[in-house]
Parts: sequence; structure tokens; C-alpha cells
Amino acid sequence: MLVIKSKNEEETRTLGRILGRRAFPGMIIALQGDLGAGKTVFTQGVAQGAGVSGTVNSPSYVLMNLYHGRVELYHFDFYRLEEEDDLFELGLEEYFYGDGITLIEWADKFPSVLPADRLEIEIKKSDKDWDVRYLFFKPIGKLDHSVLEEIKEYASAGN
Ligand SMILES: Nc1ncnc2c1ncn2[C@@H]1O[C@H](COP(=O)(O)OP(=O)(O)OP(=O)(O)O)[C@@H](O)[C@H]1O
Ligand SMILES: [Mg+2]
Repeated sequence: MLVIKSKNEEETRTLGRILGRRAFPGMIIALQGDLGAGKTVFTQGVAQGAGVSGTVNSPSYVLMNLYHGRVELYHFDFYRLEEEDDLFELGLEEYFYGDGITLIEWADKFPSVLPADRLEIEIKKSDKDWDVRYLFFKPIGKLDHSVLEEIKEYASAGN
């Protein structure tokens, strides 16, 4: 597990961007953390890194937003999802096991639907500093760990 401190919104977005540049087709990024932790900010960075232009917001009233970048990006948010059947109606497997990058906010709400190989990222707020976040990167299963190399470098450069 890799833990990175982010001192402000822009650093969280930059971390997302670094990951987005390295993200590969079929990659699953499972985000968790409280309301306002920074999951959407991080996602905006991933989208930029994946070559998506335009605004990326939480898919609040739909289950998923699809963006076209270097590869497709499927942005899910499980916050308002009540039952996993809704996901299967949407044809989740085609996304999760397709050629795009899948990113899920509130992924921990329905852990059983998540593919075995994924990158989990938990974002925790600091209880002391308003703008500080801790990002816990947890590769699960056969995830290619090299996606995390540049993030390690960013952290060790003292940012
Ligand atoms: N270090 C930081 N990283 C990310 N966001 C930060 C940071 N410091 C402050 N913020 C602020 O925290 C908020 C994060 O909002 P964001 O929508 O990304 O959270 P979220 O985890 O997606 O919440 P939700 O569960 O409602 O979807 C923003 O208002 C942002 O400006
Ligand atoms: Mg959000």
C-alpha cells in the first residue's frame, strides 16, 4: 500500500492526472472516502490524464458518465445506487470488462460487484488541516503495480 499526502485540491487533481496518463484499457479504479473527501477532484485529474477534454462532474442522477479520451472512461458513482440489480440492467459487465478505464466513486458500497483485479484508492480527510487529504493506494489482485511508480516519484519529490 502506498500513502500519499495531498496538501490541496490541485495536488489531488495532479495525482489523478498522473494515474490517468498511465491508466490502461480495462483498468478498474475503485474510489472510497467520505462526502467531500476529493473523489471527484481525483477523477477530474484521471480524466485529464486520460485525454478527456471538457468538464467532468459526478454522475449524480445517472449511474455512469462516459467520456472519450485516449481511451473511453466510464465514471460511475454508487452513492445513490440502491441495489446492484440496477447496475446489471445497465450492463455493467460490458464496462467493467470492456476496453475503457472504469472509475467508481463510493465503490465500497457494493464491493461484491467489483472485479477482482483493481486499484483501490481511499481518500481520508485530515482532522487537523482543512485542505489536507491522505490517499491510500491499494492494488488488489493482478493489478500492474507499475502504474504507481510515477505517483511514488511525485511523492518522494517532496510535494
Ligand atoms: N487536498 C484536497 N484534495 C481534494 N479536495 C480538496 C482538498 N482540500 C480541499 N478540498 C475540497 O474538498 C472538496 C472535494 O470535493 P469532491 O466533490 O471531490 O468530493 P467527493 O469525495 O467526490 O464527494 P462526494 O462523496 O460528494 O462525491 C472540494 O470542495 C475541494 O475543493
Ligand atoms: Mg464525488
